[in-house]
Amino acid sequence: GKQKKRSTLTSALCKGCGTCAAECPTVAIEMKHFTDAQIQAQIDAALKEDPENKVLGILCNWCSYGGADTAGTARMQYPTNLRIVRVMCTGRVDKKFIERAFDLGAGMILIAGCHQGDCHYISGNHHMAKREKLIRRMLDKKGVNQDRFRLEWISASEGVKFQMVATEMAEKLDKFNATKVEVAEVSETTN
Ligand code: FES
Repeated sequence: GKQKKRSTLTSALCKGCGTCAAECPTVAIEMKHFTDAQIQAQIDAALKEDPENKVLGILCNWCSYGGADTAGTARMQYPTNLRIVRVMCTGRVDKKFIERAFDLGAGMILIAGCHQGDCHYISGNHHMAKREKLIRRMLDKKGVNQDRFRLEWISASEGVKFQMVATEMAEKLDKFNATKVEVAEVSETTN
C-alpha cells in the first residue's frame, strides 16, 4: 500500500537539543522534558503581569543561563524586570514562541545561547541563527520594532556580557515606554 513519509526518532542518537521539535512542520515532534506546552506555559507565566514592562530572556541551559547565574552570584545588578525561561538549547526556540510572546505584549525578548562551535548539540545554535531571519520577517509583518528582539551568544563565564545585554535592553524598553506615554499625552491634548 501507500506509505506516507514520516520521521522516526532514534532515541540512542537523539541528543536532546529540541531543534527537531522547533523545526517540525507538522508539529508532530514533542520533546520529553520540554514540550511546547511547558515552554509556552513558562512564557505565559513570565508575561502574566505588566508584559509591556518585561524583558523576556529565553536562555540556553548550558551557557547563557549559566552566564545569568554567574552575573547573579557575582552580585552584578541586572534589571528587575528581566524574566528568564530556560531551554536546553536555542535550537528549541520556535518562532511561534516569540510570536506569541509579542502577541501577549512582551516589551523585549532576548534569546541567548552558546557561541558558534560551543553548542552542546553541535548545531542547535546554528539552526537558531538561521531562524533569526524568519523571526525578523514576522516582526516586520506585525509592526514590532526590530530593536525589541535580540539574539546573543553568551557563554556561562560571560556574566558581564549577560548583564550588559540585559541592562541595555531594559534601558531601551524604558525609552520605548516613555515615548509611548508622550504620544498618549499628545493625543489627549488634541482631543
Ligand atoms: Fe546552548 Fe545549543 S546548547 S545553544
